[in-house]
Amino acid sequence: MLWGSAISSYQAEGDNFNSDWWEFDKGKSSKASYFWYKWKEDIKLLKELGQNAFRFSIEWSRIYKSENEIDFKSLDVYKEIVDELFKNNIEPILTIWHFTNPIWFSKKGGWANKENINYFLDYINLISKNFQNVKYFIILNEPNVYSFKSYLEGTWPPQEKNLIKAFNVLRNLKEAYIEAYKILKNKSNLISFSQNLIIFKPYRIYNPLSLISTILNDKIFNFWFIEKVKKYLDFIGINYYTRVLVKFFSKYTYNESSQKNCLGWEVYPKGIYEICKRIYKKYKKPIMITENGICTDNDFQRIEFIKEHIFYIKKAINEGLKILGYMYWSFLDNYEWKEGFEPRFGLIEVDYKTGERKIRKSAYFYKELINLYKKEVIK
Ligand code: BGC
Repeated sequence: MLWGSAISSYQAEGDNFNSDWWEFDKGKSSKASYFWYKWKEDIKLLKELGQNAFRFSIEWSRIYKSENEIDFKSLDVYKEIVDELFKNNIEPILTIWHFTNPIWFSKKGGWANKENINYFLDYINLISKNFQNVKYFIILNEPNVYSFKSYLEGTWPPQEKNLIKAFNVLRNLKEAYIEAYKILKNKSNLISFSQNLIIFKPYRIYNPLSLISTILNDKIFNFWFIEKVKKYLDFIGINYYTRVLVKFFSKYTYNESSQKNCLGWEVYPKGIYEICKRIYKKYKKPIMITENGICTDNDFQRIEFIKEHIFYIKKAINEGLKILGYMYWSFLDNYEWKEGFEPRFGLIEVDYKTGERKIRKSAYFYKELINLYKKEVIK
């Protein structure tokens, strides 16, 4: 089984000047977690911490500075990262798109414009030619979250609030996914996308609006995309964080009496088990937990979080579910989008002024746990 952790390019690399997020937040992400400059050192840390997998992403805007200008030097860096991981017996799990787009792509209407899918497919062709040695691909990260935040809630670039556009974006991402899958697929790789799955519960069981909204949220947010691409999934990538209580439509709250993370999201470990069971029953495909984690200033809370979530993963495996891997989010403290640098999800603490890394106790705890599972001390 793969035991690792994850980051994304924009959140961790730093200096992604050509990304739509850089334009949007006026370079606030700055050097982010300095991953672009420290990846060699970071791979050593992964190794030291006993992890045998690492999920990271390629920054599209770094490779394609304009629609027909490829930066081969940057492409080579990503290839070196992959090679270095292999040298250290760490399986790369390569994400191709994690929310951010090149500025030139956004200027052409971004994902709302169907014709732009071809630009993404050019990028996919390049990846396909250059990463033949990679086994695990995540083509897209959380298309549901992206379309919601960027086109419905309007808090992420391009800050639109338009239901029809939000659906078009989701549809275009779905088309892009299917075509990308066809380009990338060969006999030796395994391809999927990461879906953010939330446990939706009605805020008031006897309130019809709350009930119907819960069902709709589950159907659309959780399952619409998976249903559309299910023929093109070699496994299912799950990002699991929380449970919400739905009031009406997309208005929700969290269970008052439960423990929360630093952003106020409920910590609900059993949810990871519930969601894996549901997904497995419905699709009978292997699952990979591509993200699961907590932001907190209390590292003991992180230790508890990891312990409890992995307990439930193990329970699911013991009941016959095929789980390929578990990736803690995140490997490094990193740039949490609109929320900035405050929320700290990392197993490794990052000093944002200097880029200095400090291994947290939870990283060692996770290492111990991985060892026990590897040696089958804990069944
Ligand atoms: C995203 C990450 C994000 C994390 C914590 C996930 O939905 O893929 O980019 O940092 O949640 O909010």
